[in-house]
Amino acid sequence: MIYFDNAATTLQKPQSVANAMLRALKTMSSPGRGGYEAAMRASAEAYACRKLAAELFGTGDPDRVVFCMNATHALNLAIKSAAGPGDRVVITGFEHNAVLRPLTAVGAEITVAASPLFEPEASLEAFRQALTADTKLAVVNHVSNVFGFIQPLEAMAELCREREVPLIVDASQSAGLLPLDLQTLGAAFIAMPGHKSLYGPQGTGLLLCNAPVQPLLEGGTGSDSANRSMPDFLPDRLEAGTHNVSGIAGLRKGLLFIKRNGAEILLKRERELLELTVRLLKGHPRLRLYTAERPDTQAGVLSFTAEGCDPEAAAARLARAGIAVRAGLHCAPLAHETAGSGGTVRISFSAFNTRSEVLKTARFLQENF
Ligand code: ALA
Repeated sequence: MIYFDNAATTLQKPQSVANAMLRALKTMSSPGRGGYEAAMRASAEAYACRKLAAELFGTGDPDRVVFCMNATHALNLAIKSAAGPGDRVVITGFEHNAVLRPLTAVGAEITVAASPLFEPEASLEAFRQALTADTKLAVVNHVSNVFGFIQPLEAMAELCREREVPLIVDASQSAGLLPLDLQTLGAAFIAMPGHKSLYGPQGTGLLLCNAPVQPLLEGGTGSDSANRSMPDFLPDRLEAGTHNVSGIAGLRKGLLFIKRNGAEILLKRERELLELTVRLLKGHPRLRLYTAERPDTQAGVLSFTAEGCDPEAAAARLARAGIAVRAGLHCAPLAHETAGSGGTVRISFSAFNTRSEVLKTARFLQENF
C-alpha cells in the first residue's frame, strides 16, 4: 500500500515508537499511584515525555504540558477554559470542526476572518480587522489540514499580544514540522495531536498551557486526594484518571525522532515530495490542483479535484489501486467554504514516503483520470 493519508494519522512510525510502547505495556503501571518500581517507572516516563515536549515547544515548565487523547481533546480543554456564552471569538477561515464545534457548544459569538487560500498577507489583514476591542479569544489553525496552507502565525500572535487577546493555536498539522514556541508566541494554549507529524500513537495529544484552565473531567489524580475538587495545579488539574502510559512512551520516542531529525528537515522532505507531485500532475487536463504560488506557504498536503469524478469516487479508485488518500470535507467544511471547494481528494505526506511512491501515484492518476 502507498499511504498518503498522513494528515489524518501517520501510519508508518519509527520502530522505536512501537518498541517503547511494548516495553511500557510490560513494565509500567500508573504514574503517581505508588512508590513501587512499576509505578515509579511510569512516573519517570511521563515526566521525561513532558520535559522533552517542554524543550521542543518552549513551554518553560514541563508541568505546563498536559497529556490528552488527541488534538480535539486538547482544543476542547483550551476553548472551554477560555470562552463562554456570548464571547466574541475570532477564528481564521480554515478552522477544523474540532474548533468550530466546541465554540458552538459553548455559545460563543464566532467571527470568521476569512481570506483567500495561500495568501498570508490577506489572512493577516483579515485577522487584524476582525480583532476588535471586544474580542475575547482568537483561534488560529497554523496549517490547514485540507490544503496545507501555512498561516502567518508569528505575525498573528504578535497582533494578539499587542491587543491583549488570548490566542489558541491549533497545531494539528504543524507540530513536528514548523517552529512552535509557547513562550515566544505568548499564546494562551497550543493544542497538538501525538499521532500525526509527531509520529506517536493514536490516542495521544498535548495541550501546552499558558493561561487558567478548567477541567473537562473530574476524578482521581493520585494527588491532593482529600480535596473533593480537582487540584488547582498543572498537569494534575486536567489529567483525571489513569494515563495512557504506553501511548506516552511511544509519543516520547516520536518526539525524539523530531528532535534528532529536525523539524525543518522533515518539512523539507515533505515539500520535495509535494513539489514532485505537482510537477508531474500540473499539465493534466482534468485535474485541478490546489497549490501555492509561493512554496513557503504550503506544507506537505495537496488537495485536488478530478473533473467528472466526485472526490469520494476518485479516492475509492485510488484505494482499489492500493493508494490511501482521504476525500470529502476532511472534517473542515469551513476551510472548503473559504477556498470555494465542495470537497477534494487529499494527498498528505510524511517522512516515510518516497519519490517512487509519488511516481507510481502520478502515473496512476495520469492513466486513469
Ligand atoms: N483532521 C484529520 C484529517 O484531516 C483527521 O484527516
